[in-house]
Amino acid sequence: MRLNPAKPFLRYPSPSHPANRTRELASEGHYVFAEPLQVHFNPIMVSLTNKRILLGVTGSIAAYKSAETVRRLREAGAEVRVVMTRAATEFITALTMQAVSGHPVRQHLLDEQAESGMGHIELARWADAVLVAPASANFMAKVAQGRADDLLSTLCLASGAPLAVAPAMNRQMWDNPLTQSNVATLQKNGVRIFGPDSGTQACGETGAGRMIEPNDLVTMTAAMFETGELVGLNVLVTAGPTWEPIDPVRMITNRSSGKMGYAVATAAMEAGARVTLVSGPTALASPERVECIRVTTAREMFDAVQARVATAHVFVGAAAVADYRPAQTAVDKIKKTADTLDLVLIRNPDILASVSAHTPAPFVVGFAAETGDLERNAVAKLRAKRVDLIAANLVGQPGSGFEADDNHLILVDAAGTVELPLLSKAKAARELIHHIAVRYHAKNPAENPRLAHRQ
Ligand code: CTP
Repeated sequence: MRLNPAKPFLRYPSPSHPANRTRELASEGHYVFAEPLQVHFNPIMVSLTNKRILLGVTGSIAAYKSAETVRRLREAGAEVRVVMTRAATEFITALTMQAVSGHPVRQHLLDEQAESGMGHIELARWADAVLVAPASANFMAKVAQGRADDLLSTLCLASGAPLAVAPAMNRQMWDNPLTQSNVATLQKNGVRIFGPDSGTQACGETGAGRMIEPNDLVTMTAAMFETGELVGLNVLVTAGPTWEPIDPVRMITNRSSGKMGYAVATAAMEAGARVTLVSGPTALASPERVECIRVTTAREMFDAVQARVATAHVFVGAAAVADYRPAQTAVDKIKKTADTLDLVLIRNPDILASVSAHTPAPFVVGFAAETGDLERNAVAKLRAKRVDLIAANLVGQPGSGFEADDNHLILVDAAGTVELPLLSKAKAARELIHHIAVRYHAKNPAENPRLAHRQ
């Protein structure tokens, strides 16, 4: 059967998506399915764990689906904050959206009370992704022009996070060349267009312009985080502190929470890598779709890494490995019998240095947590441990470092230094993985036999 013009296919941002291929085939006169292709929601596959999604709701009858979208996003693990335009509140109340998201809904740019909480710039920074669903024709036109005349359009401009819009409008409005030109402008500027679907519309007409279903929005939002930059590669990551036992109840350790290493493992997984995380003791849940090996001491971490280094393409040493351990671990609890107590400490193996000494060595990334002279110390560590890249940050500063949720990294390699802004650890990890991928592929072009034998 031929393409039924009354049922056009879903639009996808990627020209290689099967739906677009089908449309292409149809335009070439091939037989195609008459029904629009659907992206089916698979609750097992879709994960947005710990992702911060800013959901923008604009004026459209499809706003009634927004409450469901929030529920589905949260079920997939995301934290959701909602921003509504004035027109959106004509279709669904802010109270409903507050109830389903669990957070106050922001509506106005110049709202003193709201700005004293999470200001609009903070909100823009907070988001890992911005999804505007439903996106009216008017709102898409505004974003295409770079306008910032209300809170939501301002956030779209002010946020560095990826932006997606799910159009919802009458089919004539969707087909209008002005809307299509806005869509093209948005796509050219990296904005993803989710949908629209086609079928019977609220206005009684039939055609393209209906917002895609909440389940499909969740699937596509999750896909925004999958970069594919490390597809087919094995990434080995260490994270967390190590515990070096003094006696059965005491140990030497440090303040590492493991958050940065776990974020690196998650970002590598989202970039398509097979990831093994060797973790010291932390309070964190194992990241999804990552093989997690729990160890306690530096020597256990060393052994776990040694057993896997030969198959790793990339190694990231994010663990705060204790440099020393007690020479002896007392079998029984040490009693306080004297005024002083001497502990003899001996050096632990250097896991990072051992990985860069391996033949063939993977692409090796080390971390440096310093209290001063950041760049100079990072350069010294880069050379001393013969690694490809050092991610360095200052510790002991408020809001960044060991236990904090944010991190301010500089990346140092033989070519120089790149400074990342202060970012959430999840975003900093994604940036780091991007920089690693660029350097890895530059160092290992596809024809490199190393890549072939390790796949
Ligand atoms: N590292 C390691 N094994 C160790 C010690 C450190 O793999 N036994 C790794 C960390 O995971 C991190 C980097 O090395 O990637 C940190 O370097 P390191 O020289 O240990 O940092 P500091 O302990 O701060 O060193 P120094 O006291 O010499 O500044």
